Amino acid sequence: MITRVLTVDRDAPDASVIAEAVAVWRAGGVVAFPTETVYGLGAYALDAVAVARIFTAKGRPSNDPLIVHVASMAEVTRVAAALPPLARALGERFWPGPLTLILPKRPDVPALVTAGLQTVGVRVPAHPVARALLEASGLPIAAPSANRFSRPSPTCAAHVLADLDGRVDLILDGGTTDVGVESTIVDLTVDPPLVRRPGGISLGALRAVVPDIRGQTPVDRGQTPSMELRTVDNAAAVEHMPQVAPGQLIRHYAPRAVLTLYEGQTDAVVTAIGTDARRLAAEGQRVGLLTPEEDLLALAPVIAAAAARGRVLGRAYGSRRDSARAAHELFASLRGLDGEQVDVILASAPADAEIGQAIRDRLFRAAEGRVRRVGAKEEA
Ligand code: TXA
Ligand code: MG
Repeated sequence: MITRVLTVDRDAPDASVIAEAVAVWRAGGVVAFPTETVYGLGAYALDAVAVARIFTAKGRPSNDPLIVHVASMAEVTRVAAALPPLARALGERFWPGPLTLILPKRPDVPALVTAGLQTVGVRVPAHPVARALLEASGLPIAAPSANRFSRPSPTCAAHVLADLDGRVDLILDGGTTDVGVESTIVDLTVDPPLVRRPGGISLGALRAVVPDIRGQTPVDRGQTPSMELRTVDNAAAVEHMPQVAPGQLIRHYAPRAVLTLYEGQTDAVVTAIGTDARRLAAEGQRVGLLTPEEDLLALAPVIAAAAARGRVLGRAYGSRRDSARAAHELFASLRGLDGEQVDVILASAPADAEIGQAIRDRLFRAAEGRVRRVGAKEEA
């Protein structure tokens, strides 16, 4: 398959480019396009054969359900059985935007879209290109992130091309995405509603509309032994269950290198990363550091000392003072380090608040549970 790449004006999407993408969808093809969170890989949601092409292109297991994108709140009932009052209230506050709602599905939504579940994930994206596509096509579009399975989500067209060249019909290049991490997923089919994935909309913002909404518990976040059992010992069984939240699959957001997430008081985190980086480099490993820019600045002497042998490489992503920028840059930095063929990645994150929760969640999954708690938090 030849993959075409078309550049599209982010703020004033060219009608001819939009029309080409819509034609591919109408013919049952797959198109990668920018959303405000990450790039999506879309196909017409009610065409099971077209949807199957998404799974093939990504190498995605069929037990991992897709999010359906629609143009407006009125279109949600194209795939959901109903629009309950809570969905309407959340949609009015956060759509278009980085929020996905899990709702009971309509019978005509193919089982492949929902991994056989009786529920469907729906969102109304805010990105001008995504909106133009959905409005021009009039179709509900199923679209997971446009990466190969287990690779970090793509935040620019080059990431999509690196993963999916020759595997999809068309990639629309609309520049880098805004938010940089995926949508927040809220399950409205349980009472009280549950955040199944932290993302572009914070728990605090959701609470303003749904006061009793539940955030992820330590179990949801994979921080307990029971989750370890699920991800390691029961891997085979879990692989055949529908994935109601990302991360139950062993390799989600997994970089090629072995990643460890350092948590705790900032100074202690920086000291521990420095000590471990020096030791690993001395052992002959190629070490990547993935941290907010303040941490990397403090680690500059370690990088300089090992630089002669090219053993320690640093990639900053955003700042501890600006977690929105950190989210925006996270996946590109992660891919960048992977491209440098490092053996290990030592990572730190901004505070676990607001969009920092989504950053922490993604790094935790990339670390596959390898978290080193240091300093004050460890003693607490
Ligand atoms: O920001 C985003 O959400 C991006 C852009 C492209 O919209 N999409 C995205 O899709 O992140 P994906 O496939 O990478 O993540 C979809 C996840 C699934 O892994 C699953 O955990 C959850 O959404 N999901 C989808 N449908 C669900 C359902 N019916 N019940 C529970 N979880 C569901
Ligand atoms: Mg994904």
